[in-house]
Amino acid sequence: GKGGYDHYMLKEIYEQPTALRQTIRGRTDPLKQRVDLEELPPGTFSGIESVHLVAMGTSYHAAMYAQSLLTDRGINAQAYLSGEYGSNPPPVDDRTLVVAVSQSGETADTLSAIRAIQGTGARTLALTNVVGSTVTRECENTVYIRAGPEIGVAATKSFSSQVATLILLCERLSHATNGATPRSTSDLFDSLAVLPDDVQQILDESEAQAVASAYHDCESYFFLGRGVGHAVALEGALKFKEITYDHAEGFSAAELKHGPLALVTEDTPVFAVFTGRDDTKTVHNVKEVRARNAPVVAVTDGNHTGATEYADHVLSIPDTHRDVAGILANVQLQLVSYLAADMLSRSIDKPRNLAKSVTVE
Ligand code: M6R
Repeated sequence: GKGGYDHYMLKEIYEQPTALRQTIRGRTDPLKQRVDLEELPPGTFSGIESVHLVAMGTSYHAAMYAQSLLTDRGINAQAYLSGEYGSNPPPVDDRTLVVAVSQSGETADTLSAIRAIQGTGARTLALTNVVGSTVTRECENTVYIRAGPEIGVAATKSFSSQVATLILLCERLSHATNGATPRSTSDLFDSLAVLPDDVQQILDESEAQAVASAYHDCESYFFLGRGVGHAVALEGALKFKEITYDHAEGFSAAELKHGPLALVTEDTPVFAVFTGRDDTKTVHNVKEVRARNAPVVAVTDGNHTGATEYADHVLSIPDTHRDVAGILANVQLQLVSYLAADMLSRSIDKPRNLAKSVTVE
């Protein structure tokens, strides 16, 4: 059941500290600064030179997040919408790892993307929540995100656990891949260890209620960010439109001046996600939307960015490694979407026209 919560979505948002503990448990060796993904035999990634991530919806946003992390580690990586990848597969060979990211493991678009590259020599890996799901049978190897069952149509805890698992996978790949940029990982491992507590702190102290109260009557919302913050901006907008039925659009903050700015008015709240990459540029974007009188909600740890100065509302996240910051920022946006949809009396767990698992293309 819903365990005392009004909706499965809220229950699953609040389950995130527990889900993340399950995701991470036993998979890091903080002393050796190594990742231990027991499902993957030694040598799984030997010879891999590039990574394709295929997924849809929220899982695609997790894939974009991982693209940013891998690129940062000097590894060629590209996230694809699996529905596009299956129709028009790019060149792959035995040095390509194709990672299918799917909570359910049953998404038809993602299964057909994997089928499209069978026989090419490309290596395949499923990253899923559901033990024994179809994607695990189509791929050579599987890593489970261990988030526990997710009932709400809106993906919440599965995104956090996907990203946490992808961070571990990126670390493993970066150790295995020749030419990966050597980097210090101690801060990352420390941040992962306290991630469940950091999420709990947000759940206990979030200012999302004030934000949802102030803005749930608007008709259009924008979400912007850079790097992993771009993926979080897209995910924030997807969640918002999916359950409030209001128009919400996410884009890279770098895109603002190339089109979206034309739509920004005093009636379009703008959520700016700060995750520690080029925050100064994003502050500049915030000033641009403020000049058009748009209400600004900054999601930020408040450090060194100047972000809070120009915001009408601040959704705070604990100070953490920038690879992890997007998970925390996303939890704040989940709460805003949920609370706004609840104020609008929407059908939160079963939004109109949508199914939990999309098994046709
Ligand atoms: O089960 P999957 O992760 O493959 O599902 C992919 C999408 O259908 C899914 O993430 C969808 O976008 C969610 N309803 C978003 O909340």
